[in-house]
Amino acid sequence: MQEPARADSPETPPPGADEALPAAHAWARRGQALSRLWPTSALLCWLLGWGLLTALQPQGAVLALIGAVLPVAALAWLHERRWRRFMVLGGFVASLLAGPGLALLPAWSWLLPLALLLLMYPRSTWRDAPLFPTPAGALAQAADQIRLPSGARILDAGCGLGAGLRELHRCFPAADLHGIEWSPLLAWLCRLRHPWARVRRGDMWAQSWAPYQVVYLFQRPESMAQAEAKAQSELESGAWLISLDFPLPGTPAILVQPLAGRHSLHVYRF
Ligand SMILES: C[S@@+](CC[C@H](N)C(=O)[O-])C[C@H]1O[C@@H](n2cnc3c(N)ncnc32)[C@H](O)[C@@H]1O
Repeated sequence: MQEPARADSPETPPPGADEALPAAHAWARRGQALSRLWPTSALLCWLLGWGLLTALQPQGAVLALIGAVLPVAALAWLHERRWRRFMVLGGFVASLLAGPGLALLPAWSWLLPLALLLLMYPRSTWRDAPLFPTPAGALAQAADQIRLPSGARILDAGCGLGAGLRELHRCFPAADLHGIEWSPLLAWLCRLRHPWARVRRGDMWAQSWAPYQVVYLFQRPESMAQAEAKAQSELESGAWLISLDFPLPGTPAILVQPLAGRHSLHVYRF
């Protein structure tokens, strides 16, 4: 099967864009350097913020706050991932609210994000993928290649908050959509968001994939050998496996679809 054209092929830059490029590249390089330092970069940003706050105290509280928050916000913005930006800036603001100056929050409030994180990522999922949503439109072109009877069963294995289910629903509106998610909080939220799908909390490795005509995965490279063995032993002949970003190590894909933002889709038929 022919590989479809890249969706993100670069276009001719508009006039004047050339001068902006070196500056943009310099910022991108700084962002990459910070990303390599993660999570130490977050600690360094918070330390810098508190250092500035202390140093600027003699100038007055408002000036000290502005002088501390703005550089931390700028450094947070340099991080490549949106959730990291949020954690750097949000963590600093939370430390200000709970810190000795304002003390608006009780000291134990620092434990709340940790508790939330543990609810989202119970320890046993740490070896599998954390939550990254399937980008909108990621499955559209590949789904054109897959013909399914009405009511075909599709499983999003590790469905998170349901971004993958939403895309599957868009591509296969007549399918019977199922999701399984290990995190109780994410499974509950996904059920709320997508009442049309049957979402349950459980381990995708323990659940049989045999009843499904399509299994959709967005996991980690390390999980793909296990996924391949499970698909080979459980999927019926003719069933499909779609994996976002990570190929099966020993099965040739019938379609590899490059997508925008360094993503790619790998489609297999068993
Ligand atoms: C990269 S996210 C993908 C979420 C969703 N499929 C999407 O595309 O939007 C991976 C999800 O798999 C879940 N997960 C990891 N290991 C799991 C397991 N053994 N059983 C069920 N879910 C699991 C994680 O909690 C996380 O929500």
